[in-house]
Amino acid sequence: MSWITVCKTEQVQEDFPFSAKVDGNEVGVYLLDGEYYALGDVCPHAYALLSQGFVEDGQVECPLHEAVFDIKTGKCLRAPAESDVDVYAVRIIDDAVQLKIKEEV
Ligand code: FES
Repeated sequence: MSWITVCKTEQVQEDFPFSAKVDGNEVGVYLLDGEYYALGDVCPHAYALLSQGFVEDGQVECPLHEAVFDIKTGKCLRAPAESDVDVYAVRIIDDAVQLKIKEEV
């Protein structure tokens, strides 16, 4: 598993997550209280990118049917989605946001 640069820190804003495709995975990068977080970006309910949803109080709301997820943990907090989304390790090197994506086994 290696670290992959997905964007620059300036491309991620509190209200505007960054949407990236990394090794075939859709990933949303979020800035929350000065820390960066990365979540699987595809809503497990149907198909919508969570990074295009509404961000408030550490949560993101799916733009399609309004399921809500915790940005720090990926936990699903509100139906109609029923499962959590993946959380990826994030590190900042200079102004680069890097993620570690699990390899398929
Ligand atoms: S696609 Fe996200 S709640 Fe339906």
